[in-house]
Amino acid sequence: MTARTLAEAAAEAAGCTRCRLAAGRTQVVYGVGAPDADLMFIGEGPGYHEDQQGEPFVGAAGQLLTRMLGRIGLAREDVYICNVIKCRPPGNRDPLPDEIEACTPWLVEQISIVQPRLIVTLGNFATRFVLRTSRGISRLRGQVFRWQGRTVIPTLHPAAVLRGGGEGTRQFELFREDFDLIRRTLEAPPEPAAAPTPSSDASSTQLELF
Ligand code: URA
Repeated sequence: MTARTLAEAAAEAAGCTRCRLAAGRTQVVYGVGAPDADLMFIGEGPGYHEDQQGEPFVGAAGQLLTRMLGRIGLAREDVYICNVIKCRPPGNRDPLPDEIEACTPWLVEQISIVQPRLIVTLGNFATRFVLRTSRGISRLRGQVFRWQGRTVIPTLHPAAVLRGGGEGTRQFELFREDFDLIRRTLEAPPEPAAAPTPSSDASSTQLELF
């Protein structure tokens, strides 16, 4: 079977009713960016502005993400940006485990279509999703992992950096350091070819520091 395109998958996702979040959303926020990007960012889930505009990371956290991308010579169009869950939870509450589970096939498919060399997970939810670990983001950030034949760098969620005071704080400095690591990792020669389709099966996930 030929893999479908991101546009085809997004068109189907637009009508998704796999979980309760369908009832409260303005629209599904599927993802944005280059369909063959080397670098994929995965956040948590859409907030108010994303729900309104149908695009991930367009609010204050998104502006910080865009600024950090610019710092390492990249534009939003050069990367692919998406979230663990595609619909805004009411009041921006944390996504529930069954909502994440229901949404997982969309993200797994996005990864298998885009085939990014490097995945950057923003915050705890995305990092847990990919690395299947209970370790918190503050212990994992700034490290480089191999997962399913890809490189993974967890970093802080930009909204958390802003909540912590933004520029001038230690958190901001760490966030900036992580983007320097992202740039160095992209500049390094590619690792051996990526494995085919990522799996949501925790038993097949390897958490490996190198
Ligand atoms: N926070 C996220 O995790 N994702 C978005 O798209 C926006 C804010």
